[in-house]
Amino acid sequence: MIIAIDGPAGSGKSTIAREVARRFGFAKLDTGAMYRSVALAALRRGVDLDDADAVVALARGLSITFGSECHGNVSVFVDGEDVSEAIRTPEVDRNVSAAAANAGVRAAMLAPQRLFAEGRDVVAEGRDIGSVVFPNAELKVFLTADPRERARRRVLQRHEGEHVDAALLDAEIEQTLADIERRDAIDSQRAAAPLVCPVDAVRIDSTSFTVEEIVNRIERLIAERR
Ligand code: C5P
Repeated sequence: MIIAIDGPAGSGKSTIAREVARRFGFAKLDTGAMYRSVALAALRRGVDLDDADAVVALARGLSITFGSECHGNVSVFVDGEDVSEAIRTPEVDRNVSAAAANAGVRAAMLAPQRLFAEGRDVVAEGRDIGSVVFPNAELKVFLTADPRERARRRVLQRHEGEHVDAALLDAEIEQTLADIERRDAIDSQRAAAPLVCPVDAVRIDSTSFTVEEIVNRIERLIAERR
């Protein structure tokens, strides 16, 4: 069985996909991590993200693999190096949409994404999972949330366990909101596999629901489809 979870930045896809994977014993595929890995490699090697051909050549040559779960996240390796943290920096956040808008890069990611799902149950998260990668997925979920709430969650997650001054938090939420809106605009407006809600997807607005409530809802949807 394949469960596709698509949605804009910070809508809770990773958290929901992780909990679904845990509860039902599915493998979790984080396709965003793959585009982040391409962006990171380009930044490190000085490859201009506007040079479409150079970025495609780079993407084709990378070996992106997933390791075991660590602190609730699956680790990501590029050419054997653990880049799980390096792909989550603000610099990669700012550059990843440019790498992901490149049609050749997307083509290079497609085969490994499909291969990952061969012979096993998978919950895959991204922007084009239900529309392009797994159009025949048994369950498609489109997860959204109010943009300000998405920015707030991102910032709180970043500072988990720390004490941060309220005014600083507010300023960071404003900055994160602007970044999220910019990334969503690029992801939705690009020509290659834009962020869309597939017609056959179940739309879930996570703004006022807990993770458990959403996973319970997905559990019912899975049961209906089995
Ligand atoms: O999900 P995450 O925020 O890690 O994704 C990072 C970026 O990767 C997105 O903003 C988008 O540009 C790109 N992406 C994509 N298609 C996917 C998953 C992610 O274009 N299936």
